[in-house]
Amino acid sequence: MIKTTINHILTSDNLLKEHKVNGWVRAFRSNRFIALNDGTTLNNLQCVVDFENTPEEILNQINVGAAISVEGVLKESEGTGQRVELIVSKVQILGEADPEEVRKTILSPKRHTLEKLREQAHLRVRTNTFGAVMRLRSKLSYAVHKYFQENDFNYVHTPIITGSDAEGAGETFKVTNFDLANVPKQKDGSVNFKEDFFGKETNLTVSGQLEAETFALGLSKVYTFGPTFRAENSNTSRHLAEFWMIEPEVAFCELDGNMDLAEDFIKYVLSYIVKECPDDLEFLENRLLQEEKTKPEAERSPMPLREKIDFVINNNFKRVSYTEAIDILKNSKPNKKKKFQYLIEEWGADLQSEHERFLVEKHFKCPVILFDYPANIKAFYMRLNDDGKTVRAMDILFPGIGEIVGGSQREERHDVLLSKMQALGIDEEELWWYLDTRKFGTCKHSGFGLGFERLVLFATGMTNIRDVIPYPRTPQNASF
Ligand code: 4AD
Ligand code: MG
Repeated sequence: MIKTTINHILTSDNLLKEHKVNGWVRAFRSNRFIALNDGTTLNNLQCVVDFENTPEEILNQINVGAAISVEGVLKESEGTGQRVELIVSKVQILGEADPEEVRKTILSPKRHTLEKLREQAHLRVRTNTFGAVMRLRSKLSYAVHKYFQENDFNYVHTPIITGSDAEGAGETFKVTNFDLANVPKQKDGSVNFKEDFFGKETNLTVSGQLEAETFALGLSKVYTFGPTFRAENSNTSRHLAEFWMIEPEVAFCELDGNMDLAEDFIKYVLSYIVKECPDDLEFLENRLLQEEKTKPEAERSPMPLREKIDFVINNNFKRVSYTEAIDILKNSKPNKKKKFQYLIEEWGADLQSEHERFLVEKHFKCPVILFDYPANIKAFYMRLNDDGKTVRAMDILFPGIGEIVGGSQREERHDVLLSKMQALGIDEEELWWYLDTRKFGTCKHSGFGLGFERLVLFATGMTNIRDVIPYPRTPQNASF
């Protein structure tokens, strides 16, 4: 008897041998054919039941959603639609599923909206769409580690609880052990954090960058891949309050090297899933084509999913300075016809997602790396250019997504960094250790952050970021 899983049995050469598989019933028709799925692949195993020799009581429990174990001989299938099928000699019910109850859930075999799936997020992994997305997410995670490990990067686990706000944007979630109805105060009425768990104010990290920098300045090449948290009240299809970020940081590396790394990395992980996940990608491509049929032509993606991924793998990302981008936007049709919600009037304007998407989707029609942004719209740690007004920042913009990567060359000069922090009112006492690294063997270094869910969005062709993470956290929602 070969104990196996459905991904293996479907490609197995062990015909005419006894197999045992477990899974969940997707369909049972004519009291004879079970479509069994165990999540190891998109595809179901057809199990042929000899109903005349199977107890009625068992047959009655082979319902959609039930967990069962089947044993039988694997044969070449006579029917169309599958290569092999299992001729069942024994069925065991492992966990029942009452058809009346199943009918009320997304397990019932009909089309459910993605919104409905989200409401039953604990069951949605049993659907084809979400199962495919989650397998792809897992393979992409593996590819992330594979890429960095094969290129001499060390994986560092930066803290989740910190005392700092790496982006200086004031969007942190507080971490406290106080009884909120009874918070200790100081004489002047302010909160006495000395009495809190850590003896100071703390929050969940918005980025592991600052700690990763300290490690790059000792291990040369490092990366993080962990959860980050932002209390930004952005209720969009591309923002989460809890998301996973990949942050490589490299010593002795300037902005050009940083761009090369980001481009090479993205191409690698996408190539990996093209090779490893053909079935899931094909399924998601067809799903998207179906979904887009309901949309007006102008809103449909110009390429099917796999072609779009191949396009990114096979073409150079276009590198454009912020200043050039502003010129393009200023003279663009939507700007002149006042179609942008935020009109671009002058150099210095912060780019909104409508502008980023115009550049990528309408103007260049390929991924774009924008660099050398105005200093005052970017974070404090970015390296100041000789012009005194721009910083060595880069953002990578993707079709359908907008910003997927944000990074920069870091300010390695102690005096420049300190005066920048002072000018922006960033607490130098809190970040003394960060400043310290610029005193002992400082060197040019660079890094970036890639929002993992945005990558998964792109790779799966899904349109809402809530559908590419197991349990999304967004404003007013932390269910499950
Ligand atoms: O551009 P951001 O804010 O950059 C940083 O955090 C830097 N410290 C990274 C670094 O240089 N090490 O965020 C980086 C990326 C964005 O480009 C985006 O892909 C993603 O993180 N991101 C989000 N993804 C989902 N939901 C959110 N609320 C996100 N905010 C940023
Ligand atoms: Mg950014």
